[in-house]
Amino acid sequence: MAARAKTVYRCTECGAETAKWAGRCDACGEWNTIVEEMAAPRVAASGAARRKAGVTSLGSGGTVAATPQLRDVVGGETNRLTTGLAEFDFVLGGGIVPGSMVLVGGEPGIGKSTILLQVAGQLEARGARTLYVSGEESPLQVKLRADRLNDAALEVSLLGETLLETILATAAEHAPTVMIVDSIQTVFTGDLEGAPGNVGQVRECAARLMRFAKESGTAVMVVGHVTKGGGIAGPKTLEHIVDTVLYFEGEGSLDHRVLRATKNRFGSVDEIGVFRMTERGLIPVENPSALFLGDREKHHASGSAVTATLEGSRPMLLEVQALAAKAGFGTPQRVATGFDGRRLALLLAVLDKRAGLSFATLDVFLNVVGGVRLQEPAADLAVAAALASSVYDKPLPPDAVFIGEVGLGGEIRAVGQVERRIAEAEKMGMTVAYVGERSVPRRATKGLRVAGVRDVGTLFRELFR
Ligand code: TYD
Ligand code: MG
Repeated sequence: MAARAKTVYRCTECGAETAKWAGRCDACGEWNTIVEEMAAPRVAASGAARRKAGVTSLGSGGTVAATPQLRDVVGGETNRLTTGLAEFDFVLGGGIVPGSMVLVGGEPGIGKSTILLQVAGQLEARGARTLYVSGEESPLQVKLRADRLNDAALEVSLLGETLLETILATAAEHAPTVMIVDSIQTVFTGDLEGAPGNVGQVRECAARLMRFAKESGTAVMVVGHVTKGGGIAGPKTLEHIVDTVLYFEGEGSLDHRVLRATKNRFGSVDEIGVFRMTERGLIPVENPSALFLGDREKHHASGSAVTATLEGSRPMLLEVQALAAKAGFGTPQRVATGFDGRRLALLLAVLDKRAGLSFATLDVFLNVVGGVRLQEPAADLAVAAALASSVYDKPLPPDAVFIGEVGLGGEIRAVGQVERRIAEAEKMGMTVAYVGERSVPRRATKGLRVAGVRDVGTLFRELFR
């Protein structure tokens, strides 16, 4: 055992270090995020280099390294490993990069273990060697999951282990092309005190796995649990360590799942892939717009509006539902699912002031259908239209799509890449697109009329009077 480790405290949100425990982090202001961590004892090396140079700031233990000019750095475009699970490859930016480390986050039960076992199976079927390290479930549990998937999943090698040193030694011996660690919170190193899942453990294990990936060329994919705040449990620094962060989202009760890249050193962020959870694992959905609008045709009521969002490079139609109902006693409720609550409050205030719609005595519920999160301001107009439609209790035209940001003056502002959004709407059979006045594209559309509107008041007069 190494020298006695020193105790430090660290914030699980921002990773700031403090000497003593506190209820609130001084650095980021979050409450109840400071946890105890064992600091790794430093290795003391000789100070020969320092003495030789006569420079005291050198510290100790370093050696002189080569510094080639960038033009002399060799290596071609990395050969990505494609899994054949099209949506998964797409979100990563075209496949798995050898030697990279990918973090897959998501709530329990969303399908992280399932998709990674499928990925491993697909890779085996394509002749790559894989190793699935499970610290969460017993080998039998993993086997039972593999039984539900295709036969290729049964080819995957399994290691039921949580001690990092054993995992790394086994991986070095087995030499997989891709190693999956399910999950980072169950892994621990004997070099640090403290239980698995503790911030120091998570960070150290992730850093060592990253080093292993870079040195061996093995791509390492780790599962990370999500806290109730929506972040991956453990310090934010975990996200800084890895090359790529994927979040798996969706509502447990619904069968489709959205995989989103929130960080990607080897591709663009905010790319999404849509899957459906079936009896036999996750299946990529090729036409997400059709899936998300699927139930709408049969059931068309007031308070429903469609928008065309741009998720990464991919346009997608989504339905927004609003329900404004007479409030009981006390402060009226504002509940938003899949949409920012503060943005909703802002839109309610704008509609009150600029379009004469009062929500003061109404409970307001807003839901983005399909468990998808709408993060773009371009969805404002659909949210506003859905809210107005609910208040007037008049359905919107069924084949209309709403694209635009709503400003504080009630004006409808231009959004990026409106032509691609309109093209998607046209493809999905929409017949009219309401956009900001300055967003009307010059290029004519065939089956769809583009209506440029100045402000929400004008739009509502056209739609509801
Ligand atoms: P899982 O991958 O275990 O989730 P996570 O690792 O994110 O916690 O997925 C769990 C859910 O998926 C569970 O409720 C069962 C369901 N499931 C299917 O519907 N079909 C399948 O083929 C499999 C393997 C799981
Ligand atoms: Mg799991």
